[in-house]
Amino acid sequence: MTDLKKLEAETLAAVTAAKDEPALEAVRVGALGKKGSISELLKTLGTMSPEERKTRGADINALKDKVNDAINGKRGELKHAAMGAQLAADKVDVTLPVRLPAAERGRIHPVSQVIDEITAIFADMGFSVAEGPDIETDFYNFTALNFPAGHPAREMHDTFFFNPKPDGERLLLRTHTSPVQIRTMQTQRPPIKVIIPGRTYRCDSDQTHTPMFHQVEGLVIDKVSHLGHLKWILAEFCKAFFEVDDVKMRFRPSFFPFTEPSMEVDIQCDRSGGEVRFGEGTDWLEILGCGMVHPNVLKNVGLDPDEYQGFAWGMGIDRIAMLKYGMPDLRAFFEADVRWLRHYGFRPLDLPTLAGGLSS
Ligand code: DAH
Repeated sequence: MTDLKKLEAETLAAVTAAKDEPALEAVRVGALGKKGSISELLKTLGTMSPEERKTRGADINALKDKVNDAINGKRGELKHAAMGAQLAADKVDVTLPVRLPAAERGRIHPVSQVIDEITAIFADMGFSVAEGPDIETDFYNFTALNFPAGHPAREMHDTFFFNPKPDGERLLLRTHTSPVQIRTMQTQRPPIKVIIPGRTYRCDSDQTHTPMFHQVEGLVIDKVSHLGHLKWILAEFCKAFFEVDDVKMRFRPSFFPFTEPSMEVDIQCDRSGGEVRFGEGTDWLEILGCGMVHPNVLKNVGLDPDEYQGFAWGMGIDRIAMLKYGMPDLRAFFEADVRWLRHYGFRPLDLPTLAGGLSS
């Protein structure tokens, strides 16, 4: 084999063996680059006789063209293969399940949902929402609500007290939402029509009691409102909230220092068979306390009880949430177990409205 044939065979073999474009480029530089094997041969042409140059020159140029063609052909092949590999790697599996956006994956806690439902119902009846602090003074939580000093009703509440301040005053975690009645009457003139949802605290814990729980207070103050209005409002609320046509209610005489007369309200239900059904059955379930606002309470906020009157109620939110959504253990509400929330929680963008459905 002549030296040219040998060089041709070696170079073409190297072109064929190149695995990718950089490897092919190395072969090209090795043969056709400035100091490449074929380029070096071309440089020798100047030293040859014209005769020799004719044949030898034609052979070297033919080799150069052959190698060039082989490299260009191989480059095309490699480009094609690289593109194919890239397309295969980029392939999207359209049968994979769609990953939901964060706003769809999260869940609204049943307590938040129920507060939104309650707010929607009372807003429809013309109530606005009032709020107050969780940390209260003895004055707002008890005294202004007509709890006499040393009265046993103060002990009934199992109050969490803070350590006394230097002046001897002891702050506390509010035991009910009723202190916000006082704060509202101090800052708004009648007519007043508010609901007050919020957190409340008592030193108590079992399957149906947690140290922190939620209440919604209602307060109506004007010159004419009476127990008949209260009864209608509560009945309308229960029907709307439990999404039933009829709820049987029972008003029992009771005692609260801040109302006179005072009542507790039970709703009729059927608790046989593991779930609670409303408007039927023979059981009664206590859901709230209520009454006409006591004249002393009105006096405590500077309203004349001979001119103004009204009613109030306080309802346990967690309790009615358990009833409506069949959640058996109150403690699970506050354990922050994401599996529980996934099961009992609500979709964030399904806002409860009376027109669109409260819980659908
Ligand atoms: N604050 C009372 C409690 O937590 C509930 C209550 C009863 C609130 C009667 C009221 C009311 O506004 O009129 O036990």
